[in-house]
Amino acid sequence: MANPLSTPGENYRCNNIEQAITQALEQARKDQQPFDPALIAALDQFHIGGLPATLAMLEIAGLDSDDLLLDVGCGLGGPARVIATQTGCRVVGVDLSADYCSAAELISKRLNLAARTQFTQANALALPFSENHFSALWAQHVTMNIEKKAALWQEFARVLNHDGKLLMYEVMLGDGNSDRIEYPMPWTRQASTSFLASADDYRESLSSCGFDISIWQDVSSEALESVSRVVEMLSQGKIKQPNLSLLLGDQYQPMMLNLAKALRENALQVVQVVAHNG
Ligand SMILES: C[S@@+](CC[C@H](N)C(=O)[O-])C[C@H]1O[C@@H](n2cnc3c(N)ncnc32)[C@H](O)[C@@H]1O
Repeated sequence: MANPLSTPGENYRCNNIEQAITQALEQARKDQQPFDPALIAALDQFHIGGLPATLAMLEIAGLDSDDLLLDVGCGLGGPARVIATQTGCRVVGVDLSADYCSAAELISKRLNLAARTQFTQANALALPFSENHFSALWAQHVTMNIEKKAALWQEFARVLNHDGKLLMYEVMLGDGNSDRIEYPMPWTRQASTSFLASADDYRESLSSCGFDISIWQDVSSEALESVSRVVEMLSQGKIKQPNLSLLLGDQYQPMMLNLAKALRENALQVVQVVAHNG
């Protein structure tokens, strides 16, 4: 399969994504009426652990139908749709990639979820919303793409209500040594555009920006299990279609191999975080 992602540093660009998604949806739908969103989870849940990881995060999130949630770095909108359907809350997704936002809108429309999930192209460091706009903010596998963590937390704090919830499921440095990480990784092709930080750095910078951390759960062993399963399915050619190779092309397999190695060697860790805007 030709790699639809070309230039390094543009890991999340994808040409003809709408056509590819339309075909993938039609293929996945088959005779299913109504359409089951789980059928495209291997594609639109773009993070370690897929749909079960989003559901696990929801279990500790404590969201309800009154919440207005911002999903920062929403990708194709899979998590946003799950949050909206499971909790009844309204979800706004933003992503730097205009391609992904269009695809997210298209999928939500097809699944009759357009009224409950909206998607806008925006940079997480300059969110196009007023102060105190959201009661909760979700960031799943996005902060390792962003260098200026303190500026990011300040922007999150600005758009969140006082005491609003920050819900994160993120990849961090395991032993603090970034030299041991090999690329490509699913979030970037090269080290120069990867901004991994240690758990201590996350904790310290979140606290100095006024966030009180109430839950901090290391889920690295679950992450390794899940990545190892994907590696095995990829090597046996048994991975469910459509999947992330639609976005990542022939780099998907080397990315997952590097990810499995880094998790196995504790060079990376995966953490669930719940914090409150102080
Ligand atoms: C690994 S994907 C995760 C997508 C989604 N959160 C999920 O779990 O399915 C990371 C996403 O973060 C987005 N992203 C990276 N840097 C960003 C930024 N500065 N502002 C907004 N989105 C960003 C990328 O475009 C990409 O869609």
